Parts: sequence; C-alpha cells; structure tokens
Amino acid sequence: MVFKLNNQLLSKIATGNGHGEDSPYFDGWKAYDEDPYHPTKNPKGVIQMGLAENQLCFDLIQEWLKNNPKASICTPEGAEEFRDIAIFQDYHGLPEFRNAVAKFMAKGRGNRVTFDPDRIVMSGGATGAHEMVAFCLADPGEAFLVPTPYYPGFDRDLRWRTGVQLIPVECESSNQFKVTRKALEDAYDTAQLDNIRVKGLLITNPSNPLGTILDRETLKSIVSFVNEKNIHLVCDEIYAATVFSQPDFVSISEIIEEEVECNLDLIHIVYSLSKDMGFPGFRVGIIYSYNDAVVSCARKMSSFGLVSSQTQHLIASMLSDDEFVEKFIMQNKKRLATRYSSFTNGLAQVGIKCLKTSNAGLFVWMDLRRLLKEQTVEGEIALWRVIINNVKLNVSPGSSFRCTEPGWFRVCFANMDDQTMEVALSRIKTFILKSKEAKMSVKKLCWQGSLKLSFSSRIYDEIISPHSPIPHSPLVRART
Ligand SMILES: Cc1ncc(COP(=O)(O)O)c(C=O)c1O
Repeated sequence: MVFKLNNQLLSKIATGNGHGEDSPYFDGWKAYDEDPYHPTKNPKGVIQMGLAENQLCFDLIQEWLKNNPKASICTPEGAEEFRDIAIFQDYHGLPEFRNAVAKFMAKGRGNRVTFDPDRIVMSGGATGAHEMVAFCLADPGEAFLVPTPYYPGFDRDLRWRTGVQLIPVECESSNQFKVTRKALEDAYDTAQLDNIRVKGLLITNPSNPLGTILDRETLKSIVSFVNEKNIHLVCDEIYAATVFSQPDFVSISEIIEEEVECNLDLIHIVYSLSKDMGFPGFRVGIIYSYNDAVVSCARKMSSFGLVSSQTQHLIASMLSDDEFVEKFIMQNKKRLATRYSSFTNGLAQVGIKCLKTSNAGLFVWMDLRRLLKEQTVEGEIALWRVIINNVKLNVSPGSSFRCTEPGWFRVCFANMDDQTMEVALSRIKTFILKSKEAKMSVKKLCWQGSLKLSFSSRIYDEIISPHSPIPHSPLVRART
C-alpha cells in the first residue's frame, strides 16, 4: 500500500508559514551553513555576522567550570548530588536557582533595584518566555504594539502559536529611532481603526538590532502611555548587562519603583542568560512579572519549557559566586567595548557609519543607504545578496527587522575571534574600495563618451553582481 502525504491531515499551524523563517534573515543562515568560513579549511567561506551570540568571555566561564567541578554534577566531584538533582521536577524551579538569578538580574542593573525570587518564572530561553507572556496577556486576534526595527524572532515567539498580532510602531533614523509618544499613539490609533484590540506594548531595552538603550524620559513616557491606555508593558531586557559605555542602562524596574505612578499589574520583564552570559544553548529564560496572576499562570505554563534541573544547579552555583559574577560582568563590558570600537573604527576607515547612539548589545546597525541602487526594499535585498554572495558575510538586512527605511543592516561582532573579525573587516574594505573604483571609472567613461551607464547598474551588473541566488529553505535553524 502506498501512503500519500496529505497536508489536509495536518493542523493550520503545521502547514502555515507563521513561523516566519521564510525571510532573508533566516536565508542568510542557510548561506552560512552551506559554506562556513574556517581560517584554514575554508578561508573563502561565509563569515557568520548574523548571529547575536556573545563569545568574548568563554575563557572566564571555562576557568570557573574547571575550578568548580562539583557544580556540573556529571563529574566525579558532583556525582554525590546527582540523585537529588536528577529527580527534581517541580515547576517552581530550584530555590537556589531563583535566588541566584534574582541576584544576577540586580547586579546586571548596577544593584539599583532588587528582584523577588518568588516572582521568577523560568522558561525555555526568552523565546519561550515571550510566548508564555503572550498566552497570559492576550487572546487570538488581539495585539501588541512593537517599535521598529525589532528582533525578527518576535513574529515567531509572540504570534505563531498564540494567534496574537504584532502591530509595528514606526520609528525613524531622523531621531535615532527613538520611541516617541506620537509614534505610539499613531500605531494605537491605526489598530483602533482596524478594530484590533491592543493588549500591550513590547519594548526591547537595550534594543536588538539598534544596540541603543532607552533613556529615562522615554521610559517614563512609555509607562504613562500604557497606564493611560490600560494595556500591558512587556520589557525584553535580555541585553541588560551588555551596555558597555555611558550612559548607563536604565531598567523598567527602576522607573516603576522610583519615578512614576503606575499600575504594577501591567509590568512584565522578559530576561534570559543567552546574551548577558553567552549561554543561548542552556535555554535559561525568565519571566519576571509584577502581576501575581501572571506569575501564577506562567508558572503553570512553564511546565512546557522548564530549564533542566542540571542546568539550574550549575547556574545556581555559578551565579552565587559573587566574585566571579562581578569580574565577569566587568570583563564582558570591557571586551564588548573594545570589540565595538575596533569594528566601528575599521568601518569608519572606508566611510561606513553606524548608528551613533549605540552603546550596548552584540551588534552594530550599519548604514549602507548610499550603496543602494534604489532606495527600496528591493534595492536593500539586492545589496544584501551581493554582500552574502560576493563579500561572503552573512549580515541581516533592515527590512527583516521591519525597518521602514531601506539600507540599514545589522552586523554582529561578538560571535567570533579577533582574527575572524579582521578578515571580515578587510573583506568589507575591499568591497567598498572596489565599489569606489568602479564608480570612478564609470564617471570617467560617462564624462568621456556620455555613456548612459550609471554607477549603480555597473556595480550590480558587472563588478559585484550577486552571482547565485541565496539558498532558500524553511528548515534553517531559527537563531538569534
Ligand atoms: C531581543 C531578543 N529577545 C529574545 C531573544 C531570544 O533569546 P533566547 O535565546 O533566550 O531564546 C533574542 C535572541 O536573539 C533577542 O535578541
């Protein structure tokens, strides 16, 4: 008997493309996966600059692990405790884990605020946390406002399985993509006109992809906005400890505890150890809600995405080591600052600018608007293809972050060693210099023979044309 594959036997979720992987952001992954750069084995391969991973302090973690073999349980020193940890199944989490995470969250915010361990709910990374928050706060068809540009994973995390909608709040480069009251009101009004019930506002502070932080005034105005509208405020603060230069990070927890009148039931923080510690593989996500009902519901839901008790045990030991944590946070900032400045200085040498207000995160928001053949999304994607196919760098186009202005690209700089970063920089420099030379020779030709070739068409068609299409697959791993 021959069985036919019949999609009608599957759910709408299984057969739809709500996952959002059908985008250049994830296609770039495929290009990298098929031809990954290696300094000796594949020196002409694609360098991965589309991954917001923090690998700059792994030496410190490794050293700690060696010095604390008991914490890992599956070691001769830790085997004694194996039994107790292996059978642990409560969705509240190990008390020492919640205590240690609460302390770490405070440290990452300069100890200006404290967090109550009883409000800490665990989840499978911030990814799981966002979905749980969406499940707790909104019904299918209801919406969250989200300032643009925003992390592409939100379309998967908040929308896909919950049926919740995301409505962009359009922010612009003219004011460094600030989240203004007007932009918020406009998005809210649009939703009202479309008969969509807005249940919340989701902000990311520090921002992915901008690498900027929200200032006190903006945070206060956001808190007033959600209170006036009586909607929730979800703050993704997973880059809190990556702020590497002044001004300091201001958490929403500081604003609501000190400064403005606010209904605390509306405030929820999403956190994880994926960025600040560089542990995306450990899947340690946190919901910290000031709303008792949300804490209680999310805790029950967390059964679907618990952090393994072995990981909880390890993290509890590591984050309770005050001396280590302090050193780690400080070194992390220092190394990020150094990497950021060497990368942006290298770009500046060939005239490439990045968003100037950024001082956080694991990436820069690179401005290539002047290289676009046309100022459209198509123009941006054409340039992106050139960058992947010819320059062999996987960077992420702004349109995949729902940026409304074409020509911006997110470039991650903390997921590689110094040598790889130098190779990436030299490829960018060569690309820009070649483009300039091409422009000059076209100008000369035009001047000599009034040739009708424009710089851009020459550049794209001959000198740096995208040779092959970007591999396209819905099976690319959805990463950061
Ligand atoms: C703003 C933001 N939120 C959430 C996530 C998902 O993080 P996690 O690996 O903890 O699921 C990412 C990952 O890049 C992110 O940038």
